[in-house]
This record gives sequence, structure tokens and C-alpha cells, in this order.
Amino acid sequence: MRSGEVRAALWAQPVDWSVPMADVTLRERDPPCVKVEDPSANGADEVSLKDAAGPPSPANDFRRAVAAAAEGMPAVEAARALVATMTPEEKLWCLDGDRPTLLGLGDLFDDGYHKAPFVAARVERVGLVGVVFCDGPRGVVVGDATCFPVTMARGATWDPELEERVGAAIGSELRAVGADLSGAVCVNLLRHPAWGRAQETYGEDPFHVGEMGAALTRGLQRHVMACVKHLACNSMENARFSVDIDVDEVALHEVYLPHFKRIVEEGVASIMTAYNAVNGEWCGQNRALLADVVRGEWGFEGFVISDFVFGLRDAAASLAAGLDVEMPFRMLRARDLGDALDRGEASWADVDAAVERLVATLVRFDAVVTGTVEPGPDADAHRLLAREVAARSVVLLRNQPVDGAAVLPLPTGGKVAVLGPLADVVNIGDGGSSDVWDLDCTTLREGIAAVAREVVHDDGADPERAAGLAATCDAAVVVVGYTFRDEGEFVGSSNPAFAGLFPEQDEPEVADRFMAQLAARVPVTRPERLAGRERGLSEGGDRSSLRLADEQVALVRAVAAANPRTIVVIQAGSAVVATEWIDAVPAVVQAWYGGREAGPGLADVLFGAVNPSARLPFSVPADEADLPAFDRDATSFRYDRWHGWWHLARHGTTPAFPFGFGLSYTSFVTEDVDVALEAGADAAAGGSIRVQGTVRNTGPRDGAQVVQVYAELPDPDAPARLVGFARVEVPAGGSTPFEVVVPADRLATRDAEAHRWRPPTGAHRIVVARHAADPDPHSMVVTLDEPPD
Ligand code: BGC
Repeated sequence: MRSGEVRAALWAQPVDWSVPMADVTLRERDPPCVKVEDPSANGADEVSLKDAAGPPSPANDFRRAVAAAAEGMPAVEAARALVATMTPEEKLWCLDGDRPTLLGLGDLFDDGYHKAPFVAARVERVGLVGVVFCDGPRGVVVGDATCFPVTMARGATWDPELEERVGAAIGSELRAVGADLSGAVCVNLLRHPAWGRAQETYGEDPFHVGEMGAALTRGLQRHVMACVKHLACNSMENARFSVDIDVDEVALHEVYLPHFKRIVEEGVASIMTAYNAVNGEWCGQNRALLADVVRGEWGFEGFVISDFVFGLRDAAASLAAGLDVEMPFRMLRARDLGDALDRGEASWADVDAAVERLVATLVRFDAVVTGTVEPGPDADAHRLLAREVAARSVVLLRNQPVDGAAVLPLPTGGKVAVLGPLADVVNIGDGGSSDVWDLDCTTLREGIAAVAREVVHDDGADPERAAGLAATCDAAVVVVGYTFRDEGEFVGSSNPAFAGLFPEQDEPEVADRFMAQLAARVPVTRPERLAGRERGLSEGGDRSSLRLADEQVALVRAVAAANPRTIVVIQAGSAVVATEWIDAVPAVVQAWYGGREAGPGLADVLFGAVNPSARLPFSVPADEADLPAFDRDATSFRYDRWHGWWHLARHGTTPAFPFGFGLSYTSFVTEDVDVALEAGADAAAGGSIRVQGTVRNTGPRDGAQVVQVYAELPDPDAPARLVGFARVEVPAGGSTPFEVVVPADRLATRDAEAHRWRPPTGAHRIVVARHAADPDPHSMVVTLDEPPD
């Protein structure tokens, strides 16, 4: 295959990636690089290191920079001293991934994500290991790793402490494959449930998403650096390479950026830019986002990487805007930046600044990424954690009585029919960059069979046959929903915009080294479940419908008619409109893509070993028409402040299930609520609002309530906000106090003219509720003073 064919294949139909990569044409490059074995990586590619001799210097060694920082030199100064000793070629080498483009693409389409992490900015002469990137949001994508429930499922736990443990587990497994930078922290807002990658984020609310993403970051950064993605407004999939999001300053800062800011404040090492454009400029070269907001206003000190392959369109513009590393290949920058520098269209000062930011971050995180992983990757502990999260993420949406008692939990002594096309398949979510090749996943049928006295199964292809089986059982569980084919990452094969983004040829020495790396790779096992799946990049994309397929609805109806104790289990990454069938069944749970322990986790909830405590991290509408518009083919689109629960409230629409909703096997009363101003009544003085109260468990089982604190702002046109939450465990018949502290600046509003935050003043109604549409909340008004001049 020649390089031109690789390029053509990206926008021609069909894409053919079955070609032998050795046939790629190579281009001479100066100066040459050398091949060096990676001393440390287990499964990571060999290292590419430049063979350029820099001047000897006491500071020309990364370890010395680390030592200087340990002795008190600011990391940025230690980095600057090191970078000053690097040659121009070495510095440019740091500005993109170390792999060749054309061979690298071929590898990517040949399951490359799962075979080795991606190395960038490795320069041996100065001892710079660079970054070793590995996805992804539900677990490590390289090799056999623990597949956790998808991010959206974890969002439903509303439990940052649990999420931090997941982060630590993923971080430790990432280290085991030789990586030091995780792409797990995906926090784009769920603006609409049709978004194909909904499952990779935590939900529709910026505060909730920010708290959960910050928790994952904390956990990951015990062992590795974390990268938060995709900045910004990346909430539609099929159009991600072409859409320009038009968003005003208020919506951007109050809705689409606060969670990124929160995670920057948590100390995240890196940010990945989005593919889409925001306000007329691609995010990978968007000065307004990167230079002005992220670095200028937020003071972010880490490094910024592009999303993979098509994350920028202009090498010089990306450098000037503040993008540090183009990932993952030697592509646009390797091709264009040298000439741009020669012509004065790019500046060496910007090159130095980018490399310094990267090196300074590596200095800061050196102890983290070289420290002992405690505890080490422990398959058994991680399996148990995956099960705990799977059970804790199941949202009980409906649980009606049959013969006087709620259908759930089920008794363990019964015979259960487990029915449907998804009941006995491993259905762990997207098949793209977040797919995890866990070799030991359970199905829902297996999980239920391990608990129930007897289980029978039918795939439901013939609803009448399945109904006949259900009629012989004490209860029927019907598993419906989606797979990676219905929703997920989408690359597509036709995009003229990609023309002109590729090099004519790979650089020979870079290509040679990569071929040697491929030959030396430790083989990884492709899970058997993928046997029928074609290789290549993912295909799911944005959903074409928010409802179940007609056959699935027919199955639900037929089974419900045959067995009054029918429980519907929904597997999906976000909201499924259930209006047309939900009244036919007494019980419904949302069980997401539950990871390797999906079966046991679900069984824990269905049979009552775990009392459900998850809450929806988004609203479920009764009808698609209740939602804001979504156009998966858009080339430009406007994002405003109104989506999710704000949109429904604004239009007076009752959701089928509101944001924050979830049932339990017990019942709770929230009482003794008190709201008080602390430490001064204005935000400037560091004031905060303290919300206290008690949750009483009035039912027969131990359980957990999620107390949600909302704020209505003085401006009647402003959307209300979720400003705090607490998961409160309460024993049966007992009471547990709770406290939520809301810093007053969480109520600040964006001043579009001044480009800054306006401190909150005036009367704010603080609402303590069970969910966003709670008809019976506690509420109190607090008045914040004008800040003193
Ligand atoms: C995705 C990113 C991911 C990257 C590398 C891209 O296609 O958009 O989320 O981190 O691939 O795996």
C-alpha cells in the first residue's frame, strides 16, 4: 500500500485497512533518530530517542531536574533549565507523538488501541521518558484489564469516594502496562441522550459531573497522570470532526466549562482538546479556550494534548494557541512546523513554552509515576470493586406491588426466566477507544443463575416462545436496550476535510523503528466475544432513536402478559424513552453497561443483597419532543444554558423520571433541615452556605439516600443549579445526620461583558430535595451581601 492510498482511504468508501503496513512509502528525514529499547515499559512500545548531541550541561538530565525540584526549585524553573539544553530537533520532537502517521494509522485500525500505549516526547539524551498514554474511561484498554461499569453508570452512584477507588484501580492497572497518562477522565456534558458517547461521561449536570470527574482524577493520580477530555462542547458524535459549536460566554462558563475547571483545580496533569470547533475555531487550535481561559483565567499549569489524529488542522495555529502535544503521530506538526518556524509564522518562544510545560508536569508527577503502586494491580480486589460498582450503579426506576408486595427484591428460592437478546451476551458498551479487552466478563444470565434456585433462558427472538417459558416461572427478567452498534464512538469513512492532513510518506527511521516495535510487541489476546466483529474503528455513533426496537417492545409486552412479575432491565448509556411499554410491567431497572461483573452486580440488587441507591445522572423524558433539538449531521450548532432538567423545568414539562431520581427497597424522610451562612455573608469573604439535616430510614432495610442541594438564583431567568449532594447511609429504622457545605462562589454568575465572574448577591433559595423535580422539598432563602468595595 502506498501512502496516498492510506490518505484516500480515510474519505473513500469503503475503508480498507487490511493492507500490510510494510508497504508504506518512507520519506527521508533529517536529522536521524536511533532505536533504543524501552528499559521500563511492560507492553509499552520501544522507545524512540533522538540521537542529537546537545551541549553538556549540569542541567541536561531529567533526573537532575527532578532532584532540583525536590530540593525546592519550582518545577517550571527546573524544566526551563533542562529545555534550554535541548536541541531544536529535540524540542520539536516533544511536540507530537513518536509514531509514524501512516503506519500508525494502519496499526490503529488493526486493534492498535489494545496492543500498546502511545508514547510521545521521549528524548533519551536528556533522560526524558515523555508521556505514555493509554485510555480509557471504563478501564485500561491495553491487554487484559478490569472492565468497570461505564462512566455513566458510575455517575449514577453519586459517590465520589467510590469513584476515587475506581480511579486508583484503573491507575494501578495502567502502570502495569507501562503507561503513565490516563485518558479516563471524560466529562463532556450529556446535552442530549442521543449522544453516541454518553456512556463515557457522568451525566447532564456540570456540578455533578465535575465532582465525579475530580474524584476519578484523584484516584488515578495516586499512580499516573490523568488527562481530562474533551475540551470543549464535545457532546455530539457523528459530527465531531466537522461541527462548530456556537456558544455564548455565559453558557460556556456556567454550563460547558465548570466541570473542566473543577478538575483543573483538582490538579489534573493534562487536558485533551476536542475534535469539534467552538465559536469558529477548532478546539485543538483555539486560543480563546486554551490561552485565554484554561491558562489565563484558570492558571492551568499542566500540558494540553490534542484528540487523536484529527484534533488540529493547522500546526502553527495550534502551537500559538497553546496546544502542547499533537497526538499520537508525527503528522501535521512534523510535516509543517519546521517550515512555519523558518517563515516566521510560528515562534521558537512558543515551542520552548510548550516543551517547558510538558517537562514541568513530568517533573511534578515524577514521584507519582515512578512510585510503587500500592496496592499493586490485584485482579481479585478489582473484580470485587467492579461488582460493588455494578450493584451500586443500578437505578431502580419502578417497583410496583403484585399481590400486595413490591416485585423486587426477588426471593432467591424461585425459578426465574432470563429473557431477551442481551440477557446472555457480554454487553459492556462502546467498541471504540474506550473498549476494554477484559477476558473474564459475566453475562446477566450467569449472575442471576448464581443466585436463583433455577434459571431458564431464551433469547426472545420469538416473543411467544419466551412468554411460554416465562409463564412457567416465578418471575421473568427481560433484558433490553442497546449495544455498541446502536451507540458509541464513530469515526466514519467519508470526510473530505481530512484531505491534506497527512504526510506524503512516513519518515524512514521513525517507520523502521515502529516496525521493529510492532515485531517486538508482547501479544495480547483478543477476547472471543469479538470473533464476529470486524476490525477497524468503532461504528456506533449517535443514536437514531431514544426508544427500544419494536421487537424488544413486543417481547416485553408478551412476557408481561404471561408473567405478572416481569422485571425489565435496560442496558444503555443514557436515557431510554419507555413511555409506550412501561405501564405493562411492574418493575424496571437501568443497568447500563455494567462491566465484567455486570451479572453478579445486577443479581445483588435484584435479590436484595444490595439495596439500590443509585440515582439518575440525567432526566428521562416522556417523549423525545420534550428535549432540545439534536442534529447528528450538523455542521454548526448552538449550545445554550437549557438542556436536561433545566430545559424540562423551563417548559413546564414533567419528565418520565427526573434528574436525581431513583427508588430504594426502603423509604426515607429528610428532616431537621437547616440552612445557614458561614464565615461572612458574601462570596468575596470566602463565605459559604452550610446545609444540615437528618435522613431517617422509615423502612425495613438498611439503605442510602442521596440528598441533593439545589439553588434558585435571584435572576428569575437564570437556570437553577445543583450545588451539592451527599450520599447518606442510614440503617433500618435509624437516622443519619448530613452536612453539605456550599462555597458561595458556586453561585457566581458570568459577566459576559467583563469576561469574569460576578460574585453572587441577593436572595437565593436553597432547596434540599430528593431529585430535581421533587414536589415536596425543604427550602430556605439566604441573602448574600454585596461584597465590600
Ligand atoms: C477519542 C478520545 C481517545 C483517543 C485515544 C479518540 O478517538 O476521541 O477520547 O482518548 O481517541 O484513544
